[in-house]
Amino acid sequence: MVNLKVSISKLKLKTPILLASGVLGSSYSTINRVIRETRIGAIVTKSFTWEPRVGYNTPIVAYTKAGIVNAVGLTNPGYRALKEILGNIVKNDVPIVVSIAASTSKEYAEIASFAEENGADAVELNLSCPHVKGHGLEIGQDPEYVGKIVHEVRSVLKIPVIVKLGLTDRIVDSALKAEKAGADAVSAINSIRSVVIDVYARKPILSNIYGGLSGPAIHPIAVRVVFDLYKNIEIPIIGIGGVTDWVDAVEFFLAGASAVAIASVIAIKGLKVIDEIIKGIEEYMDKEGFQKISELVGLAHGN
Ligand SMILES: Cc1cc2nc3c(=O)[nH]c(=O)nc-3n(C[C@H](O)[C@H](O)[C@H](O)COP(=O)(O)O)c2cc1C
Repeated sequence: MVNLKVSISKLKLKTPILLASGVLGSSYSTINRVIRETRIGAIVTKSFTWEPRVGYNTPIVAYTKAGIVNAVGLTNPGYRALKEILGNIVKNDVPIVVSIAASTSKEYAEIASFAEENGADAVELNLSCPHVKGHGLEIGQDPEYVGKIVHEVRSVLKIPVIVKLGLTDRIVDSALKAEKAGADAVSAINSIRSVVIDVYARKPILSNIYGGLSGPAIHPIAVRVVFDLYKNIEIPIIGIGGVTDWVDAVEFFLAGASAVAIASVIAIKGLKVIDEIIKGIEEYMDKEGFQKISELVGLAHGN
């Protein structure tokens, strides 16, 4: 019998697939729909900031041969809206992880406390947004600052703290600092900073010029990152980046991820892809003789 349950620190997930931050995680109605209609293991909300953000002017998305490049600009109603959103989610045993994007450690800690008070099961500190200045990647690539933020959040919170890191040369150092400061898990990666140019207009397509590339093109890069993180940290890793089917998810487990989060593929294929991926993992495990996800985690390292 295949058992798909996984634990990420205190979080108990009935399946190892999470909804990654940014897709369908902004309102309680879409979150409730994902919970009702799929076997999702956990939901990560859109990143919430201190003040409401309208985001960037259109165009905010460019479709390329390599995948989607987006610069939405962290559009969200501000963290105070979490009270109403969290209060209206019908969880059905699906943990809700509130994603936070802030610009100081104090803001991270205050928003995290507010999320906890209003029913969040965990927080994910977005230290990896590739296109909003002062709200992401600059923080995540500074290991000392990562340590400071995690320490501050950890010291005021009871629920698990997940740290989301993006692609930088210092990602392993940042993950190590996060672990040392008390992080319960690391998720990686976010979309990768990119530019798309319209050859007739002869200028960048996105109003913000820079956006984040997501989808299949980033998958092998994300697998490499998870592979490297697994060699260096002990806390669980949530693999994110370019998963389109069960094979991609299993690859993440073998590289060292304890769970996998998906975003863009849902925008392309719709909600049904969640259960297709889960079913594919289940069938693979059954055929290959694995009973628990934990038996797959890190197997590609030969241990
Ligand atoms: C439209 C869009 C909005 C996103 N918004 C957020 C966000 O608010 N916070 C965050 O941490 N990641 C955000 N992401 C990044 C995803 O969570 C994920 O890390 C990235 O897209 C790679 O996964 P994928 O290839 O499965 O899409 C967003 C991605 C997309 C496509």
